[in-house]
Amino acid sequence: MRQHLLLVGLPGSGKSAAGRMAAATLGARFVDVDQLIEEQERLPISRIFAERGEAAFRELERRQVRSILSDDPCVVVPGGGWAAQSGNLEEASGRALIVYLRAAPEVAASRAAPHGDRPLLAGRDPVARMRELLARRRACYEAADAVVDTGERTVGEVGAALVALARSKAGW
Ligand code: S3P
Repeated sequence: MRQHLLLVGLPGSGKSAAGRMAAATLGARFVDVDQLIEEQERLPISRIFAERGEAAFRELERRQVRSILSDDPCVVVPGGGWAAQSGNLEEASGRALIVYLRAAPEVAASRAAPHGDRPLLAGRDPVARMRELLARRRACYEAADAVVDTGERTVGEVGAALVALARSKAGW
């Protein structure tokens, strides 16, 4: 049976770009969960964090992913913190092939930096912050069903690796 393809990894690991590319090749729907939350709440993620707090954001995120996973299989990309919230991975396992896009903190920081709206990275040394996030999340990310290294690869190569995984392991 076909499963969702769900991508986890640090902000800046390339989840959205590679996921979008893989979805296009597979003819799958692509869902960027941050974008969906911003559209539904009509607020940028940074304002949701600032005005309602991180816990409220995590709850919106948990519910959105739950609802996407109960629908037809697609390529789904939650924000980098989703996998580290207790219960989320367990709930997705069996319904989604979970793939960890692995990037070194230095690489993730350099890719994430230009794209602005990431409250957990704002105003601090981004590499140090990425290292901290990875230290806390590594075990969750590594619990994924498969790993794709993104450091030396182009978005096209990572997308192609995702397509191959979707075909060989997720019934696409
Ligand atoms: C977060 C990552 C962001 C976004 C929010 C929190 C995190 O998504 O969900 O800023 O905790 O790592 P990206 O991973 O797409 O940047």
